[in-house]
Amino acid sequence: MDRRGFFKVIGGGTLLVAVSPSLIKGYLYAQSGELFKAYEKVQLVDDMGQPILYSKLKKEVPYIFQYPYASTPNFLLRTDTKTLKEVKLKAEDGTEYVWKGGVGKERDLVAYSAICPHQLTHPTPNDSFITYVPKGKKTMAYKKGGVIVCSSHLSAYDPKAGAKVLGGPAPQPLASIVIEVDKKGHIWAVGVLGSDKFHDYFRSFKPELKEFYRNIRKAKKIVKVSAKTVPLKEYTKEIIQY
Ligand code: FES
Repeated sequence: MDRRGFFKVIGGGTLLVAVSPSLIKGYLYAQSGELFKAYEKVQLVDDMGQPILYSKLKKEVPYIFQYPYASTPNFLLRTDTKTLKEVKLKAEDGTEYVWKGGVGKERDLVAYSAICPHQLTHPTPNDSFITYVPKGKKTMAYKKGGVIVCSSHLSAYDPKAGAKVLGGPAPQPLASIVIEVDKKGHIWAVGVLGSDKFHDYFRSFKPELKEFYRNIRKAKKIVKVSAKTVPLKEYTKEIIQY
């Protein structure tokens, strides 16, 4: 099992404690504060229900899957080269945490919440103002590509550094989805690291979520067993990127 370890802040942001995802159990919720939450261990599958294979993912192509709730979208991405390791990050409230790095043989597989922490822009089936801009492509949000860009107000995030903010008004990194790649190359989501915006999102988009899922409880349902994972360009009709 190829695991991404991570660190958790305890007691107001001064003490960093290493935690292995293999040790994640419910009791850690209570002990370890708010910046890591274990959810169901969920396998990423394609639209036919077959496991997504790490080796088959094309580099620099963003995929979308919903986790840990039925309506909360995330990016899955293989970056162009290996990611950094043990990146120190800071949430909006000043709490520090450490993102351990990408997973997979080439340490290039990452997953982040696709809900922008500035004003909650996110991909929808109709359009997406947030996307990954490949290396070599231009964006108004940053001096070069290889970044996740929210084109609503031009925030840029570094996918190789825990989605650290590189520019724009975003107040904190995108929350990271903690993923693992097993020996078969199958991919699993196990939790969320960082400050997420799930509850703001549920509150702000209640009417839309109600309409789409017919029931807000369905939108807030915890994902179990598997999560359908599709390329962003198939998930949404239009990608808007500046
Ligand atoms: S909502 Fe993403 S930058 Fe404003």
